[in-house]
Amino acid sequence: MNMPTQNSSRLQVENLCKSFTLHNRGGRKINGFAGVSFSVKPGELLALTGPSGAGKSSVLKTIYRTYTPSRGTIYLDRGQGRAVDLAACSESEMLCYRRSDIGFVTQFLKILPRISALEVVAAPLIDIGTDKKDAVTRAAQLLRSLHIREELFSVSPLTFSGGEQQRINIARGVIAPKKLLLLDEPTASLDEESAGRVLTLLHELKKQKICLVAIFHDRDRMVQVADNEYHLEQNN
Ligand SMILES: Nc1ncnc2c1ncn2[C@@H]1O[C@H](COP(=O)(O)OP(=O)(O)OP(=O)(O)O)[C@@H](O)[C@H]1O
Ligand SMILES: [Mg+2]
Repeated sequence: MNMPTQNSSRLQVENLCKSFTLHNRGGRKINGFAGVSFSVKPGELLALTGPSGAGKSSVLKTIYRTYTPSRGTIYLDRGQGRAVDLAACSESEMLCYRRSDIGFVTQFLKILPRISALEVVAAPLIDIGTDKKDAVTRAAQLLRSLHIREELFSVSPLTFSGGEQQRINIARGVIAPKKLLLLDEPTASLDEESAGRVLTLLHELKKQKICLVAIFHDRDRMVQVADNEYHLEQNN
């Protein structure tokens, strides 16, 4: 579905609501979040803040259609005057937009066993047609910049520490950046130095005009990279 582009925003969320229906609890409803509205321009990072349980992760999952929205609109400008409402598009359209336009760095690494760290990180570049050798070279650069030890490059990340897995997840999420990148607590289990390196990467993505929506565990880290903040109130 094509929509008119509203303004210079890349992402415009209006009155987005999500309530969960618990079918195994007689259809009981749980409020995820309600009335969420914000917009993000290319090259900007918007931080979602608020207390635990306010719905921050659920907002990201709803933009990505892991959760279906209950109400509201999510306009994404795909460039060349092509804006779509992600809240109204079909599942198959959503799969297509995920492939071409939207990346999501979730809190946990989900990968197949027995695939090396280098291959895991290079895969999104190979998927968009980059030569395998070049993709692996770029993956190695990225892993070095995130301080992953060289001896781990050929090992499956499933055996890595929590912080190492998180850096693999981030590397994989940013190696072939899409127009919109969603990040759920990308620095949560990282030490100061590794977190600093991730923040540097996020600054580079902003320079490339990527639009970012992120949740940070730590306010000090958030203020170093966020342009704006959207605060979600506690659910009641
Ligand atoms: N799949 C689901 N089914 C039912 N309820 C859910 C589901 N996902 C989230 N919720 C509920 O929605 C509310 C918001 O959860 P969410 O995980 O988005 O919070 P959050 O702001 O990310 O919290 P935290 O800072 O602890 O990560 C919570 O009350 C949660 O129980
Ligand atoms: Mg969360």
